[in-house]
Amino acid sequence: MTKPVRPIGIRDFLRWKEEQKPFTVLTAYDAPTARILHEAGIPMILVGDSLGNVVLGYRDPVPVTMGEMLHHCRAVRRGAPEAFVVGDLPFLSYQVSVEEAVRNAGALVKDGKVDAVKLEGGQARVSVVRHIVDAGIPVMGHLGLTPQSATLLGGLRTQANESETAKKLVEDAQLLESAGAFAVVLECIPREVAAVVTQAIRIPTVGIGAGEDCDGQVLVTHDLLGFGSTFKPKFVRRYADVEQVMSEAIVRFRTDVENRKYPNDDESFHMKADEKRAFDSED
Ligand code: KIV
Repeated sequence: MTKPVRPIGIRDFLRWKEEQKPFTVLTAYDAPTARILHEAGIPMILVGDSLGNVVLGYRDPVPVTMGEMLHHCRAVRRGAPEAFVVGDLPFLSYQVSVEEAVRNAGALVKDGKVDAVKLEGGQARVSVVRHIVDAGIPVMGHLGLTPQSATLLGGLRTQANESETAKKLVEDAQLLESAGAFAVVLECIPREVAAVVTQAIRIPTVGIGAGEDCDGQVLVTHDLLGFGSTFKPKFVRRYADVEQVMSEAIVRFRTDVENRKYPNDDESFHMKADEKRAFDSED
């Protein structure tokens, strides 16, 4: 197990890009998962608004509130006090006005205890990114398939497939860099486009369904663990089948109870002999 010896910071991600050392980002929404990721050497933990569809039972991230994000960001921080944690700004927490965006980003840092925030969008979000960064809060951008606006994008499908949309995405990444973003997530775009973006900016790209040329790779932890999701996008590699492990254990527990095999005597508490004697003689 490779536990980081000192807290990871933005300069590390920038250095790893320069050194062409790929790094990992994984999602967490609770304390034990955050602890496990940190102890496994994952240098950046994302409290994504995938929280909505992955653990809160929503169809997509759109209904996720600031209150829910704050609750889960705090849990992640409690589980991994030393980790570099990024919290997603949920839908409509940064689109209405720059003031609201700065206030909500500030709340994620002050109350949610995250190190940085992530928000979706390119050109249209440049001013918001600049103001949040000016307030002293690191921002990670998110381009390509942006789940908060999936309906507008025609569903969960790859983006920037045509030359024009690909060029626009490269420009958007450059604009985010100029606005002060420290990294940018590229979701579901052709590998060729991600490679060009990665070359075109000095800040790291973090790919999810964007091919191997990105500086870092992010996945939803539940997807790689095979836990709770029947939908498996092409880019997800399953490293475990946790859902099966859980189901088998739960069925074994039910069967043991139904057959009086659980609990056994070793799993029970006993009275001291004198207390038992007094207890038995009381009636
Ligand atoms: O919400 C999330 O988990 C994300 C990642 C998929 C990048 O934004």
